[in-house]
Amino acid sequence: MRIDLDDLGLDRGGHLLVAHALRTLPPGESLEVSGRDPNLALHVQTWCRARGHGCTVVDEGAPRGTVAIVPGPGTDARVRAATRAGAISPVGLVERPPAEWGLAARGALVEAGGPAPRFALDQRDQVWADLVPQLYAQATAAQWDPATAVPWDTPIEHSDEVEDAVVQVMTYLVENEQVALVVPARFLGNVHPYFREVVQLLAVQVADEARHVEVFTRRARLTGGELGLSTVGGRASLATLFDEPDFSVSALLLSVLGEGTFLDLLSFLVTYGPDAVTRSVARLALGDEARHVAFGQAHLEHRLAAEPELLGTLRSAIQRRHDALRDTSGLNELVFDALVVLAAGAWSPEAIARGHERVIGLQRDMAEGRMRRLTRLGFPTEEAKALAALHTRNFM
Ligand SMILES: [Fe+2]
Ligand SMILES: [Fe+2]
Repeated sequence: MRIDLDDLGLDRGGHLLVAHALRTLPPGESLEVSGRDPNLALHVQTWCRARGHGCTVVDEGAPRGTVAIVPGPGTDARVRAATRAGAISPVGLVERPPAEWGLAARGALVEAGGPAPRFALDQRDQVWADLVPQLYAQATAAQWDPATAVPWDTPIEHSDEVEDAVVQVMTYLVENEQVALVVPARFLGNVHPYFREVVQLLAVQVADEARHVEVFTRRARLTGGELGLSTVGGRASLATLFDEPDFSVSALLLSVLGEGTFLDLLSFLVTYGPDAVTRSVARLALGDEARHVAFGQAHLEHRLAAEPELLGTLRSAIQRRHDALRDTSGLNELVFDALVVLAAGAWSPEAIARGHERVIGLQRDMAEGRMRRLTRLGFPTEEAKALAALHTRNFM
């Protein structure tokens, strides 16, 4: 069998024609390659050596050279030394992918050698949950556009005092959302990309929080006033989340307990928000937060199944955070009062009493929700109740 490359050199794509011809070469035969490129013989020899093919120069002569290729026994040397970076599908993931797979696609044939970047979160059970691919699909399907999803033009008809209450709550929400954004963002770059769906889910989660920061800020500024107060106690509580270095402990403190508690807070604002914009931004964030909580919960359930002794670590983390925040004031008083005003809906003693009761009811619902989630993780009921009560008064 023979092919003629004419003027085409191997350095300009001629190797594709050679490889193409070799694939259809009957067993036991050799391939003669000829052409007018002055480097043809040299380049074909080098190319064959790298791939384990035999190569003899038949005619070095100018203006036309000819080389004979005898195909080697197997695939090329690079492919022989390569390993498959697992399966493409997320089913049956390896426990700890090698560092060399980190910059390759999962399922790719990875040439031996090359960079071995270190990803601190490179063990399946450190980050995984079987629900992750499904949560990622839900997350991408549920993305909304802040510009069009919120009825921004609806007039604000309530009093300045009620508006101040809304602005104070929004100010508080924004600082919480900022921490909910930066914490997963920092973990994201440390997850081995082999656990692709985790990286993708965290990326969408970060984008969710970016939208929450945006819509709460925009709601706060809707009537043109200044933002409200950010307290030391609130930020001290957030700092403990910001400083937590362990992914699973962070999943507990930030996602299961913090964002879990926020589900009740956002539902409260959906019910008692005094205007359509407030209710809308709370409802949109609520849908996203439910997914963030579900990931934290699913991850911890997965990890605890493999490592039941982690429960002790989680218990100490809750206690440690409680101790660290013991001397702080917890929830911003202005936020508490603002919630009472919103839930009261009027300025009579009866209405304020009702609003106050509703906020106490909210805190009770929050504690019960935390207790339920802790019980699902495997804490006995009484202990779950006690641990739920140790959660920061700042809600997040
Ligand atoms: Fe959020
Ligand atoms: Fe969140």
